[in-house]
Amino acid sequence: MADPDRPEPPRGPLAGVRVLLGVSGGIGAYKAVLLARLLVAAGAEVDPVLTSGAQRFVGAATFEGITRRTVRADVWEDIAADTHVAAGRAAQLAIVYPATAHTLAKLAGGLADDLLSTTLLAATCPLVVAPAMHTEMWQHPATRHNAEVLTGRGVHLLGPSDGMLMGGDTGPGRLVDPEAALALLLRLHGGRERHDDLAGRRVLVTAAGTREPIDPVRFLGNRSSGKMGFAIAAAAAQRGATVELVTGPSSLATPPGVRRTDITTALEMRAAVLASVDAASDLDVVIKAAAVADFRPGSASGSKIKKDAGVPTIELVANPDILAELGARPRDAARPLLVGFAAETDDVEANGRDKLRRKGADLLVVNDVSGADAGFDVDTNRVVILGRDGERTEVALTSKSEVAHRILDLVVARLSPPD
Ligand code: CTP
Repeated sequence: MADPDRPEPPRGPLAGVRVLLGVSGGIGAYKAVLLARLLVAAGAEVDPVLTSGAQRFVGAATFEGITRRTVRADVWEDIAADTHVAAGRAAQLAIVYPATAHTLAKLAGGLADDLLSTTLLAATCPLVVAPAMHTEMWQHPATRHNAEVLTGRGVHLLGPSDGMLMGGDTGPGRLVDPEAALALLLRLHGGRERHDDLAGRRVLVTAAGTREPIDPVRFLGNRSSGKMGFAIAAAAAQRGATVELVTGPSSLATPPGVRRTDITTALEMRAAVLASVDAASDLDVVIKAAAVADFRPGSASGSKIKKDAGVPTIELVANPDILAELGARPRDAARPLLVGFAAETDDVEANGRDKLRRKGADLLVVNDVSGADAGFDVDTNRVVILGRDGERTEVALTSKSEVAHRILDLVVARLSPPD
């Protein structure tokens, strides 16, 4: 029989895991109470840290009642106990839910003027940030930049989703549901052993779209921002790999520890990729997240095409398919593992399966780009990863960082042991 004087040890997938729950001042703060409840039910020890704005939306007493832990909100409380960093140091997982535009900016800039910001600077564990704000604020270049800085730093940006906002507005900016936040935290917890599993490996990643010149001022391009490829490069570097990133034009910051080569056209990308593959006999993996233009103008005009000359006819010629070229090489010890991407809008999975076979890839990440929350220029993605061996892995909507890690999990499982 259970001894009533001895508390039951925690149970659940997060049993005993210290989770820092940062709550900033948005209306979605009420959902943080639900997230706290889900985390407690999963066995976590939750340390809620509320900004002053959050406390105007939801009272600390609610969080204390649910988590059975003291809510910290003031950096000047209990100085002797290092309150301003203690919860950050102890945390094994951290989430800011909701993150306002102001909190995102503070995190990106490394500011530390309240308890939540100091605590987060002291945290070295995986960090999830779930933005919530009005659409205009989310789309403002300053916020976009801050979100990109955080993603480049390996922070898992989750959402926002598209839906009803405060004041009756609708659009992107809504806080993701607590269940989605919990699901990501669970996966991050399960994946902590990923830590160094690519140490000693060399990985080449391609990212962003190519641009095919029409004349000195115009080009044929596509909507790829490079976010997925950059997230993969960042994740591979975090896991210990030596990473080279060959990228089309992108304003994204180079992830820490990654060697970057900038190219513009498909032909330049091909030359850079083949040079790398042929020079490095120890290259383990090539991940082709780039959106390579399939066609280019047969000959680019040396001077600007003037409209007075009438509507031009631009003749296109096919670009070489870099992935297919690598995939046609014999599958021997020298051939790196090949991961391709497929951006599809119709018959998504069937097209992906066909592409996997046609291009000779080992893994193919199929991306349905018809939704607003996955694919081009957003921080979230939802994919199906198909293996040549028939394995199929579905990754529900999550941060591009997490998608990157899930791809790398499958890569690691397929690498032969190091020599
Ligand atoms: N790819 C490539 N070289 C090209 C075109 C595509 O290496 N010239 C790679 C991409 O980097 C990606 C994969 O092939 O990993 C699939 O790209 P996608 O554009 O979806 O496929 P396409 O070959 O263009 O097929 P389709 O036009 O039938 O969709």
